[in-house]
Amino acid sequence: MRIDIVSIFPGYFDVLELSLLGKAKQRGLIEVGVHDLRDAAHDRHRTVDDTPTGGGAGMVMKPEPWGEALDGILEAEGADPDPLIIFPSPAGEVFTQRMARELAGERHLVFGCGRYEGIDQRVFEEYGSRARVKLVSIGDYVLNGGEVATIAMIEAIARLIPGVVGNPESLVEESHEEDGLLEYPSYTKPAEWRGRAVPPVLLSGNHAAIAEWRREQSIERTRAGRPELLPRELRGEARGRHAAE
Ligand code: ADE
Repeated sequence: MRIDIVSIFPGYFDVLELSLLGKAKQRGLIEVGVHDLRDAAHDRHRTVDDTPTGGGAGMVMKPEPWGEALDGILEAEGADPDPLIIFPSPAGEVFTQRMARELAGERHLVFGCGRYEGIDQRVFEEYGSRARVKLVSIGDYVLNGGEVATIAMIEAIARLIPGVVGNPESLVEESHEEDGLLEYPSYTKPAEWRGRAVPPVLLSGNHAAIAEWRREQSIERTRAGRPELLPRELRGEARGRHAAE
């Protein structure tokens, strides 16, 4: 997968060199290009924003630098003919594990990170007429810009690309995967720590009982913390045998 990012703070994306993502880049599973929007602003101060037309508080990002930066990416030699351009925005569709899975199947993602009060609306119209464009929010709160949202989305998407995570089975049992429930609690050695014992069923060697306990824990966690995620058929289900353990 090819990922291009446009931002006035390219330094934010240094974190993509770390951990699994850094390794995936080194191994050529993902290719990332980070573009400084100010390189496409040609006045002395490399200005990327201006006052809102019609008045109001704050500043709006000018269309010209966005046009030049995005044209450069979309028209680069060998560029993918069908990229998906994502503008992180609190006004966008909410990012979910389902969306991450869909986006992991794309060949070319372009992230346009806005700052200030947003980007001139004509940028969305222009690129919406030339490519697929999506406004995406990572949650109902307001960040200072799209950079952190982009990093969160790239991490969630990239780990679903085959080969990025070493053990693909570890992806299946996570929260929001498979059955839409939250993940069950995990334990490791020692069997007792500061007087706190690991639930005995996990030491039983009885794989069916362990699987049943984990499923009950997932259901109880989901019921307690995110009841809206519970599948309809589980909403009224009586608590399981081990639920109180
Ligand atoms: N930019 C500012 N807030 C955001 C959010 N919640 N999600 C995505 N992009 C944003």
